[in-house]
Amino acid sequence: MATDVTIPEFTIPSSAASALLTRGTAADTPLDSWPTEAFRTANTEILALRDDILAAIRGDAGGAVVRVDPEGLDDHQVSTLYWNFFTALFRPVPQYSSGELIYPVEVKAGAEETSHYSSSNKAGNYHTDGTLLPQLPDVAFLFGLSAATGGETLLMDVDSLVRQLAGLDPAHVTELSRPVPFDVKNQTEGIRVKRQPVLTRTADGYELRYVRMYIEQGFAAEGTPVPPELLAAMDAFDKVSASAAEHAESVLLERGVGLLWDNRRMLHGRHPFQETTSSRRLRRVYGVAADERAQ
Ligand SMILES: [Fe+2]
Repeated sequence: MATDVTIPEFTIPSSAASALLTRGTAADTPLDSWPTEAFRTANTEILALRDDILAAIRGDAGGAVVRVDPEGLDDHQVSTLYWNFFTALFRPVPQYSSGELIYPVEVKAGAEETSHYSSSNKAGNYHTDGTLLPQLPDVAFLFGLSAATGGETLLMDVDSLVRQLAGLDPAHVTELSRPVPFDVKNQTEGIRVKRQPVLTRTADGYELRYVRMYIEQGFAAEGTPVPPELLAAMDAFDKVSASAAEHAESVLLERGVGLLWDNRRMLHGRHPFQETTSSRRLRRVYGVAADERAQ
C-alpha cells in the first residue's frame, strides 16, 4: 500500500542554513507581509535540496521531511530560514481572506478536544488544507518551533484510500465525486457555501478536498440534511483513513523539523498530543507551483 511509503528526509547543512538567513525579515513583519519573491541563490547545496525535495513531493511519497539544526537560532530565525527555503521552491499564497502568508499553528490540546469537529468524528481529523480558499494550495508546509508529547503529523495518499474505499463499495467513490456544499466561513468573498467535489479525477489519479466538518456545516447553512448516501460514503472514507493512519509513517515536528506535502493528493492529520511538558508550536505556509522559480 502507498501508506507504507517512507517519507524521504533531507537535512539542510549548516553552510546552506547560513545562506538561507541572508535575506532577513524584520521580527515584527506582519503575517501578511512576508516576502513572496523567490529566494534566489547560487548555493549548490540549496539548489540540490530544492530539486530533490520537489521530486519527493511529486513522487510516491507525496511529501518530504526537512531538518535543520536549530541550535543558536531563535524562533524568528528558524521561521526566516524556512520561509526563504520555501520561496525557493514555491510561491507562497494567503491562507485566509485576511491575507496571512505564514500562520502560527498553536492549537491547545485541551481546547481542540472540545471542538465540534473532533467530538463529531472520533475516527480522526484527517483533512485537506485550504479547501475554503478560491484556489486549493498545491503544497502545504509545516515546520516546528516546539513539539508537544505526541501530535506527530502523517500523510496518506488519496489514490490508495480511493482503492480501499472502492473495495468497500464503488458507490462511495461515485458519491464523493459529486459536488457538495462546503461552508466557506467568509473565506471567499460574497459566498457562504462553495460547491465542490471531495474527489476529482485527474490525469494522474484523484485530487482530494476533504474537511468533513465544513461539508456538514455547508449542508446546515443550506438548511438541508446531509444525504444518507453521502454520510455513508464519508463514514466509509473516515474508516479507511483511520485504518491507513495506523500504518502511515508519522513525523514529529520538533524544533527545526519541517514537512512539505502535495496538498492535492495527500490526506493529512496528526496524532493526539499532550502539552504537559512543552507546547506544540508550528508555523504553516501554503504554496502553489512556481516553475519560474528555477534559476
Ligand atoms: Fe491541516
